[in-house]
Amino acid sequence: MPCIQCYHCQQCLPTVSHLHIYDSDITMKNLGILLSGRGSNFEAIADHVASGKLDANIAVVISNRADAPGIESARGRGLKALVIPSKGKPREQHDREVVAALREHQVDLVCLAGYMRLLSPWFVQQFPNRILNIHPALLPAFPGLEAQKQAFDWGVKVSGCTVHFVDADLDHGAILVQKVVPVLDTDDEHTLAVRILEQEHIAYSEAIRIVLEGKYTIAGRRVVMKPQQR
Ligand code: GRF
Repeated sequence: MPCIQCYHCQQCLPTVSHLHIYDSDITMKNLGILLSGRGSNFEAIADHVASGKLDANIAVVISNRADAPGIESARGRGLKALVIPSKGKPREQHDREVVAALREHQVDLVCLAGYMRLLSPWFVQQFPNRILNIHPALLPAFPGLEAQKQAFDWGVKVSGCTVHFVDADLDHGAILVQKVVPVLDTDDEHTLAVRILEQEHIAYSEAIRIVLEGKYTIAGRRVVMKPQQR
């Protein structure tokens, strides 16, 4: 999708001085979910789709691990579920296999849901502003692994979760939705993680809805709702 200001964002150079502004008036419905494990965020999205709360279609669920409980759950729900093993493959080779499957299933929006793989820059370029991730902390605080433990150990009084667009850097792209979770004196890292997860299950579908409805623009790092939607 071109930047509506410069119309050549894919080629923009770091020297370009204006903010890149993306417009999002595109009809999209087909989700591709990538996961590596438990799959509770996938299940929450699937529940919202099944109940009609989220107007979307889960076109395919892909795991890089055959033993991911999430892929079993997808099969149990009668969804198209693929295992594309990553072990021993160069990153981009695996990414090319995944992207081919996403294209075959006409995926509009890729949702990383506990996908324990860094995407190659090539993958990110295939779906510009069309890949979401969920992170169990309030980014930019505590990126990376064990975010709930990082937050707990730091002694923060609030943490939460973040749904953001994926760019070439880890846990870095423009933020769509955040939910705040207080850290209680009685918490340990596990009880905090449980309450954060409850919010993740709400936040991800909210973010997907925003993107599918296309009622936003991205100006620099800021995702801004179009005025009529406020
Ligand atoms: C979630 O905490 C998510 O924020 C993080 O990985 C975890 C995946 O959990 N990216 P699940 O597999 O969705 O249950």
